[in-house]
Amino acid sequence: MSRVIGVAVVGYGGMGGWHTRILQQIPETELKGVYDILPERNQAAEAVGIHAYGSLEELLADPTVDVVTVAIPNDAHKDVVIAALEAGKLAISEKPVTTSSAILEEMIAAAHRTGSIFTVHQNRRWDEDYLVARSIVESGKLGRVFAIQSRVHGSRGIPGDWRNTKEHGGGMVLDWGVHLLDQMNMMMGRMPVSVYATLSNVTNEEVDDGFTATFTYDNGLIFTVEVGTSNFINLPRWYVEGLNGTAVIEDFHVNGKIVVATADEEHDAVPIITAAGLTKTMAPRTPETIAEEPLPRIDTDIKDYYRNIAKVVNGEADPIVTHDQQRQLMRLMEAIFESAEKNEVVRF
Ligand SMILES: NC(=O)c1ccc[n+]([C@@H]2O[C@H](COP(=O)([O-])OP(=O)(O)OC[C@H]3O[C@@H](n4cnc5c(N)ncnc54)[C@H](O)[C@@H]3O)[C@@H](O)[C@H]2O)c1
Repeated sequence: MSRVIGVAVVGYGGMGGWHTRILQQIPETELKGVYDILPERNQAAEAVGIHAYGSLEELLADPTVDVVTVAIPNDAHKDVVIAALEAGKLAISEKPVTTSSAILEEMIAAAHRTGSIFTVHQNRRWDEDYLVARSIVESGKLGRVFAIQSRVHGSRGIPGDWRNTKEHGGGMVLDWGVHLLDQMNMMMGRMPVSVYATLSNVTNEEVDDGFTATFTYDNGLIFTVEVGTSNFINLPRWYVEGLNGTAVIEDFHVNGKIVVATADEEHDAVPIITAAGLTKTMAPRTPETIAEEPLPRIDTDIKDYYRNIAKVVNGEADPIVTHDQQRQLMRLMEAIFESAEKNEVVRF
């Protein structure tokens, strides 16, 4: 019989709080407690009945803790992850795993040295909008897919915390970019051949408050990844173009549609007349030659992330998120920064 695993969370901020709530809903896991560097956050945990450890050392010395989830600012992941691995715990780092490939290698080396397992919380692999986009691409319904756009837009700038600072690994490439890039890698199953990227600094000079990265794949497919934080009108979350149709997923709630060609266009286009001229190229197709379909829906459960971790601790599975996947993600993010800085295409 698989045993229930003990999990402790380091950092009881926005995401640490989320982990504690999820852990309390999964029978395979038992929340052992939290530790935050700020006394008031530990008090906040105790106020909702969660045990707060007096120090990181105390948390790591608890033999009932199998797993340590690290939910603290990005620059601080490394030291706590390595301490957890050295204490013989399975360490889960929040995303982005860290701020450079070199630091990631130190973390991976610590996992090899200690024999402890180290993985990362890439939770947005369970987002329905992504799973639906991926299923549409894989279904072949659109014919050969030649372009995919994945973007998230907000209008609140960067949240007013450590995310605004370079020192703590702030900026949107590392924050939201890492989610969208991970989804791209999962969807494509391989690295792109090149990227061209631009960063935005609309509301913040120190770190990027958005970016657009255009990746080219070996088969010519163009995958655009964009994050914006000064967008008062959102462009669609996903836009997928195939030779036989187009799919749009408007938002996280999976509103949208698929339009596919059902027959060849036999009629000459009726031109659209505008004040400045006429166009047949941009005239709509005749309705008999296209069909509109609703988006598929996909059941997804983020609790499967920790169910996998429980299996890993019990020796029944490998972690879903691997070191090589993290190496690729760091490489993509570093290439985005390099491309933006040099205003050049970067090849992989
Ligand atoms: N996977 C996701 O969907 C998702 C969403 C939000 C945040 N995150 C990630 O989670 C991490 C934390 O983000 P957040 O939004 O919760 O930040 P936050 O500022 O809300 O919380 C961070 C907490 O960590 C504490 N802290 C800082 N240094 C510490 C240390 N050395 N030891 C113990 N506690 C320490 C702070 O006091 C604070 O309470 C980041 O890496 C972020 O990228 C992931």
